[in-house]
Amino acid sequence: MAELIVALDVQTREEAVEKVKAIGDPVGFYKIGLELFTAEGPDVVKAVKDLGKKVFLDLKFHDIPRTVERAIRSGGKLGVDLMTIHSVGAKAMIQSARMAADEFGPNGPKILAVTVLTSLDQTDLADVGIVGRTPAEQVMAMAKFATENGAHGLVCSPKEVGALSKALKAGTLFITPGVRPAGAAVGDQKRVATPADAVRDGATHLVVGRPILAAEDPVAAARQILAEMGS
Ligand code: C5P
Repeated sequence: MAELIVALDVQTREEAVEKVKAIGDPVGFYKIGLELFTAEGPDVVKAVKDLGKKVFLDLKFHDIPRTVERAIRSGGKLGVDLMTIHSVGAKAMIQSARMAADEFGPNGPKILAVTVLTSLDQTDLADVGIVGRTPAEQVMAMAKFATENGAHGLVCSPKEVGALSKALKAGTLFITPGVRPAGAAVGDQKRVATPADAVRDGATHLVVGRPILAAEDPVAAARQILAEMGS
């Protein structure tokens, strides 16, 4: 059964707590990203955990293996459930991240790898020296590389999840943002899918922000998405 993660794209801890409380029981998982974490730090993670929710801390680490290992350990101590790293951080960095996560046992953080940011196109890849592969080929190659080296799963677009879920081993986590309920505003997302499509294609977790946070009735919006997911 796929899980819904609401992206807490707000500026302050107070606002974050208010949103989590307002949405209440239907949603048990929240994403804290760079904007909120840089503003409020670990306190906001603790606040969301104290409300009994799971936390996806999306800081996309890319550093030397020792630093990433220690940062994952810090996340584990906070009780974080999912954390992101960049797959281009290479083998030792991915393996170190996984080793640190495993110290916390089966309920420790799961490591998700970012393959190619969806904001990058072929020209951007060439600018950083990746030539001879389309973005889709690079996504597939990095997805295999990251999961073979210890990543529990991947962050991917709903347009990629079908091919990835067929190619990778059972049990791999697929976290897809860019999800919009049927008929909802797309915002700045370019390649969107409905919750039902994403789940059908193999997504294990759907990340949804504005369609819930900006809704007049966030609880109803969350319930509608959960229904579309078949949850
Ligand atoms: O509001 P919306 O549903 O578009 O929010 C999606 C969330 O997922 C945002 O926090 C955004 O930064 C994140 N995200 C994304 N696309 C990616 C990676 C992350 O939309 N490729």
